[in-house]
Amino acid sequence: MSNASVNECGYRAFSLGAYKFVRDEYFAHITWPGGSHTISVDRFLRALMRDVAWNFFYGTVNFDEVFGTTNHYGTVDVFAGLYNAGFRERNKQFVEALNGDHVRSTFLEMLEDWTNEGFDPFAAPEETGTPFGPKRGSNLSAVRRNRVVAKRMVGLKGDTPLRSDADGNPVNRQFTDVDQSEPEVHAEPGFEGEVHAFNFFAYLSRSDVTWNPSITSAVKDSLLCPTTEEYMLPIIHGNDRVEWFVQLSDEIHWDVQDRESGAPRARVVMKAGDVTAMPADIRHQGYSPKRSMLLVWENADPALPDLYAKKRLRPNPVDF
Ligand SMILES: [Fe+2]
Repeated sequence: MSNASVNECGYRAFSLGAYKFVRDEYFAHITWPGGSHTISVDRFLRALMRDVAWNFFYGTVNFDEVFGTTNHYGTVDVFAGLYNAGFRERNKQFVEALNGDHVRSTFLEMLEDWTNEGFDPFAAPEETGTPFGPKRGSNLSAVRRNRVVAKRMVGLKGDTPLRSDADGNPVNRQFTDVDQSEPEVHAEPGFEGEVHAFNFFAYLSRSDVTWNPSITSAVKDSLLCPTTEEYMLPIIHGNDRVEWFVQLSDEIHWDVQDRESGAPRARVVMKAGDVTAMPADIRHQGYSPKRSMLLVWENADPALPDLYAKKRLRPNPVDF
């Protein structure tokens, strides 16, 4: 449910279960029975954008150290302090299990109302305007953007298309050195519809968004989800399965923490060519000093979260 009236800054207030959300010129304010929390609105909108566009993703989307969502693939836990050692010690955490479609539609309404003209929550800070100040227009085309989800592979007939200047996807300012030539495919007669290739680096160089792992190929549960990164991952992602990362260009610095408490576990500096297996029991946040290319390899098998929760699979897939 949402309130049609607006506050003195021009923004609507929203309710979701027992939570209430209001924004002013600089902050999103969240209240729930027994607590309240304040998040800088740039961080809040960037996190909200991912949660909506990814349909809550895999596992937990921590907007920050206090507020976030955990995906149960149908229902969603909307929580405050659930994965925060301080809240847990004082038994101050609050969590509501809500219908996923309802949470998503409420979040989308909030995102549409609270995002001002000229601000794109998916864009790098250098490439977009300010989210701050009183209500000033909107940016519906940006916040209604869906992530790319290829059925088989980008560029196949009937699947999600390649990117080009002509369709409004120019090469990003930091990838002007990326070779744009496409591979030649010489299929045997009769196999023309079954052989396909494209220039993966050229495709990524034309991504207009950051921190948005999109599916470019799918083989059963094996999903290749490359993404371009710049500035910082605007959420702290809590894994419910192992994620493999391949750093394709430049570098990303990762803070890796215990998923439940947030206690630090590792710092990982990934340079071009580095590969990591991020364990199933961690949360992580990445920092990309320059625009970089990251390949995220996801296993979409719906049985995995339960297997890890019951410790029938080890959280780390390899030992060194
Ligand atoms: Fe992750």
